[in-house]
Amino acid sequence: SYTKPSNAPPCFPILLSILCRKYDFINKGPLELIQDGYKSLGDIFQIRLFHRSVVFLIGPQAHKIFFEAKDTQLSQREVYIFTIPVFGKNIVYDASPKIMQQQLKFMNKGLNLIHMKAHVGKIVMEAEEWFNKWPQTGQIDLIKEFSELIILTASRCLLGKEIRENIHQEFAHLYQQLSDGMSHLSFFFPNAPTNAHKKRNLARIKISKIFEKIIKQRRINQEIQYDDFLQVLIDARYLDDSIPTDDEITGLLLAALFAGQHTSNITSTWMGLLLIKYKSKWMSKLLDEQKQIMNKYHGELSLESLSEMNLLHAVMKETLRLYPPLVFLMRKVLESISYNGYIISKGDIAVVSPSIAHRISDVFKNPDEFNPERFLGENAEDQIEKFSFIAFGGGRHSCLGERFAYLQVKTIWSILLRKFDFELCQEHPEPDYSTLVVGPKAPCMVKFKRKIDSF
Ligand code: HEM
Repeated sequence: SYTKPSNAPPCFPILLSILCRKYDFINKGPLELIQDGYKSLGDIFQIRLFHRSVVFLIGPQAHKIFFEAKDTQLSQREVYIFTIPVFGKNIVYDASPKIMQQQLKFMNKGLNLIHMKAHVGKIVMEAEEWFNKWPQTGQIDLIKEFSELIILTASRCLLGKEIRENIHQEFAHLYQQLSDGMSHLSFFFPNAPTNAHKKRNLARIKISKIFEKIIKQRRINQEIQYDDFLQVLIDARYLDDSIPTDDEITGLLLAALFAGQHTSNITSTWMGLLLIKYKSKWMSKLLDEQKQIMNKYHGELSLESLSEMNLLHAVMKETLRLYPPLVFLMRKVLESISYNGYIISKGDIAVVSPSIAHRISDVFKNPDEFNPERFLGENAEDQIEKFSFIAFGGGRHSCLGERFAYLQVKTIWSILLRKFDFELCQEHPEPDYSTLVVGPKAPCMVKFKRKIDSF
């Protein structure tokens, strides 16, 4: 039985709340309930889930202790165990803390500014080719369309041209089987003997074999220069000068792919839906920005031109504020920590929620309104306090792919805005809480028409 320490965070009685209030878990997920906890108890409270205390930390000040804690205090590994069958043994969350840190550094290197130039060129090429194939007019499901495009760009930038040019279809199929093996069930029981898990495990073995061959070839043909993420991992060295094994390289590639693919796809889709919904207010301003910058750079989409598209950037950020794909970030408490006189005890789960945090009206004015300009200028609303905007997390484990994600999603919408007019064909969709990464409920149908005066 559970005895609550006297200075434990106040407890939000979920069973009683569920009995007293009708929560729409199907459509609204667990967020309404957490929002109620925040409204009634403040920025730190706990709920009891099975035998465990889950402590919620809401708002910039409470986020600070979450994001500034050391790995020895708040640990990711225990809550990300479900990734091990996909990423593999001794990779990231299954590795010792020292090895994990070095592996994250390898990934960071592959996504840094120096490599970004090469990545952007490839993203632009894939996206332009993709949208050139669209007919004059038509209807598409944005989420399906972007998912297919983003796996192509990820293939080219991260996995390498061997996959992209020779066996893209085969890889996409195996990747789908890995994705299907990462459900809510897998989160709690990653090794439950289900069909999806069996297929996932087989797909992981096949993918490892594919990369073993490619890596071997690259090690033999050293005279060919590659500028992709795979090559950064092949060239990586641990501190003791040992090289990552082929299976570790494969796992790190898969980790980057999983971190970036669904999140970027979802963000591109929400961004389109919001842009089309609010086009009367924002479209002409966005097109002015596009005209001005594309003129300045002689029509070339590049790292430089994309970096100057401030309004487009703010639109993406505002999209992520309203619809962050990761709605909860979690850690296992390894050493008790305190906040505002409360103790978060060893063994608890600490949680922050970008979805809840981004709708706090003291931090973001009229938080339900779509207003990209809140992020522009000296008084940008997220600059007043650190850890206000947390769609990419924060602190030592903040997203390593943030720059890549912005460039990818901005490329897609820079091309689409300049080449096509859009109209919605349906109501604005609700978020779909049935998957771990939360996107809009599919399908997300829109009508498009190629512009006569595209530029
Ligand atoms: C971590 C969000 C795109 C690679 C994270 C975290 C968040 C996040 C919230 C922190 C997780 C935590 O604290 O538990 C997003 C969003 C994206 C995006 C919203 C797109 C819109 C990408 C891309 C890549 C990537 C494109 C790589 C190509 C990573 C990696 C980490 C991470 C490697 C782990 C960092 C660490 O633990 O130190 N991401 N991400 N992400 N992300 Fe992203």
